[in-house]
Amino acid sequence: MNEKDFYVEVIDNLPAISENENMKEKFAQTFYEFLQLQHLYDSAIEVMKTYLNILDNEFSVKFQRNPIHNIESRLKSPQSIIGKLQKKGLPLTTESARKNLLDMAGIRVTCCYISDIYAIVDMLSRRDDFTIIKQKDYIKKPKPSGYRSYHMIVNVPVYLSTTKQYAPVEIQIRTIAMDFWASLEHQLKYKPSASITPEISQELRECAERIAETDLQMQRIFMQINDLE
Ligand code: GTP
Ligand code: MG
Repeated sequence: MNEKDFYVEVIDNLPAISENENMKEKFAQTFYEFLQLQHLYDSAIEVMKTYLNILDNEFSVKFQRNPIHNIESRLKSPQSIIGKLQKKGLPLTTESARKNLLDMAGIRVTCCYISDIYAIVDMLSRRDDFTIIKQKDYIKKPKPSGYRSYHMIVNVPVYLSTTKQYAPVEIQIRTIAMDFWASLEHQLKYKPSASITPEISQELRECAERIAETDLQMQRIFMQINDLE
């Protein structure tokens, strides 16, 4: 039994839907399309993670060090996909999600030094089978909140059994220090009871600036020790 027939059978047992032939077919089709989409995006994450790990390993062979400290990934949950489409007033279809949401597949790379971030960006940009759809340098131009990171949306090819398909992957590249700030700031801001006053925002911005100075200082020490200046 294929996935779509499976859903038809599930729906057959849902009285509210099963009584309407048209609706039944539509539901099964949507479920199936969504499952295929999730598989494609999940595979695109795997392709990208494998490539990043290859880069990291190459660095350790060539330079005896790892530019990547950690790689995390996530597939946007169906609830947040629906929530975001609703918020933007867009149709709740698989096609609409595919067209409008470029962050359904997300990878976060934490690096040791700022120079590692740009080295990774450079290597990703050199791959002729990856198309960079969008990139934003929030390190050179931090967000008003104080947020720093390099963002890229890359169209990644995925070889399936009979076709080659592309899926966009959002990559956030940042140092351990930038990640420390972003994680805590996110936790503080999204706490349901949080009331973020302008004074608190200012304090958070100041923390981000101090952390950025430390990042630069660590970068200088690294260059000095490795005679890279
Ligand atoms: P979205 O529609 O939210 O994805 O925005 P966008 O497409 O304009 O992308 P943008 O580059 O602004 O940011 C996307 C992601 O970056 C967010 O989902 C967060 O993970 C992260 N981000 C952006 N700004 C901040 C910030 O001020 N603080 C923290 N902690 N994270 C941020
Ligand atoms: Mg987002």
